[in-house]
Amino acid sequence: MSKSQKRVLITGQMGFIGAWTAFQFKREGWSIFGLDDRSSYGERLYDVAELGLLMDGEMECDVSDLAKWQNWVEQIQPELIVHLAGQAIVPRAFKQPYLTYRSNALGTLAVLEAARLTESVRAAVCITSDKVYENSNNGHPFSETDPLGGGDVYSVSKSSSELIAKAYNNSHRSGRSLSIQTVRLGNVVGGGDWSINRLIPDLIHAARGGNSFRVRYMDATRPFQHVSDVVKGISRISLAALDGEIASGEAWNLGPKDSSFAYVRDVIELFKKYYPDIEVIDEEEKVKEDLNLSVNVSKYSDRFSPPRDNSVEGLYRTMKWYQAYYAGASSIELMESNLY
Ligand SMILES: NC(=O)c1ccc[n+]([C@@H]2O[C@H](COP(=O)([O-])OP(=O)(O)OC[C@H]3O[C@@H](n4cnc5c(N)ncnc54)[C@H](O)[C@@H]3O)[C@@H](O)[C@H]2O)c1
Repeated sequence: MSKSQKRVLITGQMGFIGAWTAFQFKREGWSIFGLDDRSSYGERLYDVAELGLLMDGEMECDVSDLAKWQNWVEQIQPELIVHLAGQAIVPRAFKQPYLTYRSNALGTLAVLEAARLTESVRAAVCITSDKVYENSNNGHPFSETDPLGGGDVYSVSKSSSELIAKAYNNSHRSGRSLSIQTVRLGNVVGGGDWSINRLIPDLIHAARGGNSFRVRYMDATRPFQHVSDVVKGISRISLAALDGEIASGEAWNLGPKDSSFAYVRDVIELFKKYYPDIEVIDEEEKVKEDLNLSVNVSKYSDRFSPPRDNSVEGLYRTMKWYQAYYAGASSIELMESNLY
């Protein structure tokens, strides 16, 4: 089968990472289909860059409600599902724990059930998070073999997704050639993220609106990674799964090059190089979050190739995107210039 005939269903294609993923797969010659319920808040790169024009088919639907989309997935006959849909904002998970768990854990269950029931699907790649790990906040970079856990509903919704994927891999693939992979992302940064309650988008909104920025944890560390490395990684893992080059049931940490990280304080300093007038004040109402997060990306780097950017490089690439965009450059051309 030629590459142009390959069909991928991307859930959450209207979100920040989904938009970049859809564009990456289109550039690589795939037919792309999307399922999203438009439930996240904030302006969408997907709309700004008119990525809907590139889609070969779309359905607006809650991913956890499989009865509503099972027939559709039978009709479009994808061979790959990349599952990104979910409630992705950590502070929102504290306000809406039930919705978050349903979207994330039951959403993953629905995707894997759809994959099991649809003969055409040969690989399902489910995106989770570095927050799947039991975190003692001792600064040690997580490896894929570290214990799963989580002390809040967002984390548990993602570690539950990992366990669901493990169960489907162990018990529900008999008689089927279906590869199940999970990909644990760090803190993804890149142009066109205008979500609410995320560090860079909140800084952009505050700076451009002439408002002050309220920081939650100045001394928190996060494995900031550029979205172009994320979508390249999703593509590489998907192809290797489809070609049978990696075993089903693998989990992959996908973070910045060299297992790097940055302090929130460093991100704000870097941001101030572009927006020197922004006022930063300490947020009094803090939700409880893990303070130290970094991920070991040796498994991915050794099997495929190391990510291109470390945390600081990814942050600079991001700020240059916004700078060019607000100076009038085309969003889609800026995306193209970032991808590899
Ligand atoms: N951005 C990050 O730093 C990061 C880090 C680790 C993991 N992740 C995970 O990657 C995935 C994508 O994240 P993102 O940054 O693009 O988030 P996002 O909020 O921009 O996109 C998520 C998309 O999923 C859709 N969605 C939410 N709930 C849904 C549901 N029940 N049914 C159908 N669609 C639904 C939203 O409308 C949105 O378009 C999420 O699963 C997220 O948890 C993101």
